[in-house]
Order: sequence, then C-alpha cells, then structure tokens
Amino acid sequence: MDNRPIGVFDSGIGGLTVVDALAKSMPLESILYVGDTARVPYGNKSKERIQQYACEITDWLIKQDCKLIVVACNTVSSLALKKIQEKFNIPIIGVIHPGVMAAIKVTKNNRVGVLGTIATIKSDSYGIALREQIPGIEVVGRACPLFVPLVEEGWVNGPIPENIALAYFDSIKESRIDTVILGCTHYPLLNSTIKKVLGETVSLVDSGVATADIVISVLNDLKLFSNAKSRSIKSFVTDSIDVFETLAKRFVDAPINSIEHIDIT
Ligand code: DGL
Repeated sequence: MDNRPIGVFDSGIGGLTVVDALAKSMPLESILYVGDTARVPYGNKSKERIQQYACEITDWLIKQDCKLIVVACNTVSSLALKKIQEKFNIPIIGVIHPGVMAAIKVTKNNRVGVLGTIATIKSDSYGIALREQIPGIEVVGRACPLFVPLVEEGWVNGPIPENIALAYFDSIKESRIDTVILGCTHYPLLNSTIKKVLGETVSLVDSGVATADIVISVLNDLKLFSNAKSRSIKSFVTDSIDVFETLAKRFVDAPINSIEHIDIT
C-alpha cells in the first residue's frame, strides 16, 4: 500500500480529462496535477523544447513525492516519454500505448484514424505503436490544431465546431476507418461533434480512459494502491490561477481541492 499521490502533467488544462478518468476509476488515489499553462501549447513546439519542459515538470513532481507519474499530454507522450523514462527512476505512464491497445481491441477492419496536435501527428507515435501491434494496419493521421482553442472557448457543439471538423475530416472520411483515436487531451470534449461528423459507425477511443485502466494494472502489479480514507486532487499551474479555475469544471467532474501557482524553471 502506498498513500502518496499520483503525479499527472500536461501542457495546460486539457490533461484534466485524464484526471477525470483517473478520479472516476480510482476513488482513493490522490492526484497532483501540473498544467504548464504559461508555456501551452506544446503541440507546435520542437522536440527538444518539449523534452526540456517534460524533464522539468517530472523532476518537480518527483520532489513532491509522487509514487507514479502519468503523462496526460499526447504531445509529451509522443516526443518525450522515452527521455523521461530513461532519466528518472519512477514508473511513468504515457497515453499513447494505452490508446493503441484500446484501439486494436475495437477495430474490426484494421483501419484506424488518429487525431492529434501537429507535433503528435508529425511524430507518427500512434502509427508506429499501432504497426508494432498489428503489422500492416492502416493508420490515417490528421492534425486538428483548431480543436484546442475551440474546446477552451467552450465551443464544442453546433455549426462552428461541426464545420471545422468537416474540413479536417474530409480526407479521413474516404479512408473507411472504423475506429478513431482521440489523441489529444482536449478532443474528448468534442466527442459528440466528432461522432456526428464521422458517423455513428466509427468508434471513438479516448486515450485518457484507456490510460486509467493501465494505471490500475501498474498500481496493482507494484502494490502501490492507496488505502487512504479519502483523497485529494491538487492542481498546480505555471500561469494565472483564475483562468484555470474558470475552465477546469468543463474538463473534470471531481472537485479540485486546491489550485496553486508554481514556477517550474
Ligand atoms: N495537451 C496537448 C496534447 O494532448 C494539447 C495542447 C497543446 O498543444 O499543448 O497533445
């Protein structure tokens, strides 16, 4: 048993969708969440920059005595997971592998779409991991950078997100994919719009939900489950607390017990 918190981090607020999945499936686990709101977005930054940020935040979470770290950010998981796993001596789980394992269970025709940031799609992290599992699997990636600001504006339904999704999915729709991985923290909030545009026959895979399942099995294997009577969810942000506080409720149902400003660098 280990009652220390799970550390979770993201480039900003979007990783709270992963916190939501973790909080729902593990009601006794405390969570420390870092949102690097001062430096978001990561999705259009270089690999070197993303690795530097990931090392800084991981180091900070380890200093807060976390027992395990979840990289909620797809961009960091794509470009920096290996780096931090090699550098730090603590279990670190990213969102790519869990998303891939969930997708291969769902697809029937081995044609999978991946939606993500420019950096995630350019890295082909999902494609590489999917082909490792099923050689020859058809993978169609599409960067949807406008989805992040749309979600942060709260424009998740209606003609504006639908028209943007229509434009993004033009090429995808022709490729007969039956499964789409939501490979970005924000995209689960656009679930119904994406479904509407792609059609009911396409199954959506939420990497965050898939990651929560993997975290449960790792905690179990390493005997790291908490047996505390209650848990807390604490957030730490590198920019203004106000904006984060206003937006947070859209991303996570569980109450956030505190929000503090930190300087990571
Ligand atoms: N959190 C990022 C991701 O999941 C999206 C926002 C960003 O570009 O930093 O890839």
